[in-house]
Amino acid sequence: MNPQITAFIEGLPKVELHLHIEGSLEPDLMFELAKRNNVEIPFNSPEEVQAAYQFEDLQSFLDIYYQGANVLIYEQDFFDLTWAYLLRCKQDNVIHTEIFFDPQTHTARGIAFETVINGIDKAMQKGREELGISSQIIMCFLRHLDQDSAFETLKQALPFKDKIIGIGLDSSEQGHPPEKFKEVFEAAIGHGFLTVAHAGEEGPATNIHNAMKLLGVSRVDHGVRCVEDSGLVKQLIADRTPLTVCPLSNTKLKVFENMSDHNIVDLLRQGLCVTINSDDPAYFGGYMTDNFMAVAEALPVSLEELQAFSLNAIEASFISDEEKQRLVDLVTRFSREFLA
Ligand code: ADE
Ligand code: ZN
Repeated sequence: MNPQITAFIEGLPKVELHLHIEGSLEPDLMFELAKRNNVEIPFNSPEEVQAAYQFEDLQSFLDIYYQGANVLIYEQDFFDLTWAYLLRCKQDNVIHTEIFFDPQTHTARGIAFETVINGIDKAMQKGREELGISSQIIMCFLRHLDQDSAFETLKQALPFKDKIIGIGLDSSEQGHPPEKFKEVFEAAIGHGFLTVAHAGEEGPATNIHNAMKLLGVSRVDHGVRCVEDSGLVKQLIADRTPLTVCPLSNTKLKVFENMSDHNIVDLLRQGLCVTINSDDPAYFGGYMTDNFMAVAEALPVSLEELQAFSLNAIEASFISDEEKQRLVDLVTRFSREFLA
């Protein structure tokens, strides 16, 4: 690739808005935690784990992903997981990140909600102090489970409300549309949470429409199938509803066969507020810089457009206007100095 583009991507200050902390569990750490906690995993080495990461679709990934999370038991494990991710953020010049976690994956195994959130939160605090990376937590409901389980999870979250900025919806999109969670999202909004939802990843454009209409989302996670409804695209442009797009995830899970088929640059050029994110970087072959590189390698994209992905993510983030301005200044100063 053009070395100027590579250097620009490496140095560009970035904001991540779509990252599942359980999806940042690298095979080495999975092995270390399995040993430390005496948990059996069906692999003999981190290399074997890596080799198993060949996916046909979202579900084939989720089956392996939920199994991997079994090694996470103690607060220290959630701390170590989050800290490892934040160190990768530092390498990639990620200056702000909004982290998803899936409490039900852990509470269903008898792990206390507070064990999970305290481990994540303590690492985020250390990340602010020692790495200068700001961060927020978004709690996701697993959509393959029923709404009662989501309500129970919302109840468990209330004592930790000050640590959680928003509520999301993830897991198997097919057969579990947004309308299944209408009431629990209404309740979450009533408690003051912002909302987001995975929609239009594997599921149809109607899921995007319904996530906006019924779940009151501030952003759509993935959303790439919006192109199947031109009226919806017009609305996304008019409202500047952000899409948190995950390029390497989309090719790994065969939402697009090749990166050269991906619609992310088209969507940006049409005026949508699209952003680049890593989703589950340990499983999909890369963190933020890798995702930017993969896009720039396969698709025609200018430095200005690469900068726009970062500016869009700042616009779409759940931070104050003052904080947004500080991050915009960092990005624009970097570009100006790079081009000088
Ligand atoms: N959970 C973790 N990654 C996910 C994805 N890409 N889609 C839905 N649920 C997820
Ligand atoms: Zn995701």
